[in-house]
Amino acid sequence: MASPPRSAALDLRLLVRPVDAVLDGFLNDRALDPALRAEARLPFLVAQLQQLIAAGGKRIRPALALVGWHAAGAGGEPRAAHHLAASLELLHTCALIHDDVMDRSDTRRGRPTLHRALARRHRGSPAAAERFGTGTAILVGDLALIWSDELLHTGRPTAGQLAALRPLLLAMRTELILGQYLDLERTGGRRADAEPGDVEAALATIRLKTAKYTVERPLQLGALLAGAGPPVLEALSAYAIPLGEAFQLRDDLLGVFGDPTATGKPALDDLRDGKATVLVALALRHADAAQAGQLLAALGDPDLTEEQAAAVRRTIIATGAPRRVQQMIARRRQRALSSLVRAPLAPAATEALRTLADQAVHRLL
Ligand code: IPE
Ligand code: IPE
Ligand code: MG
Ligand code: MG
Repeated sequence: MASPPRSAALDLRLLVRPVDAVLDGFLNDRALDPALRAEARLPFLVAQLQQLIAAGGKRIRPALALVGWHAAGAGGEPRAAHHLAASLELLHTCALIHDDVMDRSDTRRGRPTLHRALARRHRGSPAAAERFGTGTAILVGDLALIWSDELLHTGRPTAGQLAALRPLLLAMRTELILGQYLDLERTGGRRADAEPGDVEAALATIRLKTAKYTVERPLQLGALLAGAGPPVLEALSAYAIPLGEAFQLRDDLLGVFGDPTATGKPALDDLRDGKATVLVALALRHADAAQAGQLLAALGDPDLTEEQAAAVRRTIIATGAPRRVQQMIARRRQRALSSLVRAPLAPAATEALRTLADQAVHRLL
């Protein structure tokens, strides 16, 4: 469970409350786009996005963007900050939809993934249905991606704010794609395109696909909107990278040992896909020959049964890898918290960052 906030200075839940309304209003407008009024399918595609957004999600990126905005003194209009935050959630919606296609996942936020739900609606053969589901999910993700840009502009940021945000927005989106590509290279178990036991490479992947994308860039974008300079941006980065790594390390543990009813995501995917996460890389590094053989034979087997998965989990535990990952999470949380001690950030935001550090590390979801 997330620990309760230590300070009421910045209530994170209150902070993100306007974001969902901004998202909903924007998507309703897109569905009624006058230029496309004759096309009745557009509202259907928009509804797919709205349903995924309404299904849940922690809204961590919007929260971080708003904390970053406060950390830098909350300069400018709250409207622009709320639209930036909402725009990050829409970009994330694209990332999740495409991630689930790439990871061939069945569930997300406790419901069928978009490509699976769409396939189910199709009346053709199983192959045609799968093709329809995957193709449509790619398109719906693309809509979320391009509309995330439009949503930012709808917040009417000034020309100066837009110019400041632009390089970082470009960096964030490029880092996300590169990180996801590295993740794909590390997928497939022993048939993967990369050395599965390479812990450093696994860490480099999560730095891009999560630490920068989920934590560093949202914080910095919010701060830039408020006019932050290099000292604030650097302080936010010093907090964000270790915390973002800790967040994904926890996600990887949950991906193998989590309860799917709590996470809303499957607990077999990472094993069946043979994802060489930091957890798996550590297990392989510390495995004896028999354990390594067993892991390499099982990881990436798409037909892995629950019983075989249970045996793999026992072996991973026997190598000590989960304990090592827990230690890495604890060290990174500590590093993130220490970075805040002399950080030139507004005190209320610093307190919120402390709370977020606990939530990211202790989260069950
Ligand atoms: C999932 O992101 C992908 C990762 C980077 C771990 P979240 O864990 O933020 O997912 P939601 O938005 O809360 O569903
Ligand atoms: C997703 O990574 C990262 C994104 C940027 C969306 P994962 O594939 O590890 O995340 P989950 O476990 O499916 O949410
Ligand atoms: Mg995934
Ligand atoms: Mg993935």
